Amino acid sequence: MPRCLLRFCLPIKIESPACGRRLEQEMIAQKEKERAPRNRTIELSEQEIEIYRKRLIYSENDVSDCRNRIICADAFETLKRLPENSFDLIIADPPYNLTKNFGENSFRQISVEDYEIWLDSWLKETVRLLKQKASVYICGDWRSSSAIQRIGTKYFTLRNRITWEREKGRGARANWKNASEDIWFFTVSDDYVFNAENVLIKRRVLAPYTENGKAKDWEKSAAGNFRLTSASNLWTDLTVPFWSMPENTSHPTQKPEKLLAKIILASSNENDLILDPFNGSGTTAVVAKKLNRNFVGIERNETYCLLAEKRLALTEKDKTIQGFSDGIFWERNSLNSISRKGAKKIKRIG
Ligand SMILES: C[S@@+](CC[C@H](N)C(=O)[O-])C[C@H]1O[C@@H](n2cnc3c(N)ncnc32)[C@H](O)[C@@H]1O
Repeated sequence: MPRCLLRFCLPIKIESPACGRRLEQEMIAQKEKERAPRNRTIELSEQEIEIYRKRLIYSENDVSDCRNRIICADAFETLKRLPENSFDLIIADPPYNLTKNFGENSFRQISVEDYEIWLDSWLKETVRLLKQKASVYICGDWRSSSAIQRIGTKYFTLRNRITWEREKGRGARANWKNASEDIWFFTVSDDYVFNAENVLIKRRVLAPYTENGKAKDWEKSAAGNFRLTSASNLWTDLTVPFWSMPENTSHPTQKPEKLLAKIILASSNENDLILDPFNGSGTTAVVAKKLNRNFVGIERNETYCLLAEKRLALTEKDKTIQGFSDGIFWERNSLNSISRKGAKKIKRIG
């Protein structure tokens, strides 16, 4: 990281034994707290902490064999050590340009110009890691979005900007409620993977059109009328993880699995290798595993790395992704109504 920016980020900390003990005590205290009966937030037991620690690669370890592993270390240092020309897709969800605590470290809001320097300092390290057909997705809020566009186009070809609705947002008295985020989509070259047919959306048809008495581009089912449509760059079918969802953890900015599934299905093929340099609670890694891709995740906070390991272990028993079924993305809440009514699978059309 450039020296001028160091003051904005607290020093990188890989937990010392004392920190480890404190972490354990915090975990136990948290576990002892009353949980609402429907609270499905993923937590770590003392025993799990010990087991999952053994699976992590720490900064002092060799990273040459890091396929399907979580690296608990600083991204700036680690990116320099990864093998070149090896990744098919990078999904980066870096700290946004906001003051925010991530466990023991925090990110402090800086000027747009300084945020650009910060972005540039790690993004430039990713260029040599990517294959010719690779894609890069970078997440940001409205404030950091323009910086991502400028720095991303320095190294890659810009393909699109996806805006996704966060559904919930905090109201402001003198501003619009902030309820959306951006994801910038870049590719290394003009020859890139894009599987549009793998990210179709099933939408309820409000005004079903018929031609000669036959449904036009929609299908009737016991649960209602539905149509399959191409995914646009406006995503309104996502739910940010919350306490009663099985994917939820204590990470403050966890992304929905469904969001990662769209990116991974569209921009990679089975067995491809995906890198997430700001892995957090492991959403990219977990969805990559569920969709038969390989992954490498980098995250400097040990607790988040351990949560990611637990989520990866849970995928052995459950590979479902909320809102994605039978190869189709369903509009928010429509899949629930289908299962409740016990309707038969709706045939794919179009
Ligand atoms: C926006 S969050 C990612 C959340 C993630 N997508 C998820 O679904 O859980 C950004 C993460 O980057 C981590 N981080 C920040 N600076 C880092 C650095 N220099 N190296 C590695 N990780 C870092 C933070 O600890 C935080 O968990």
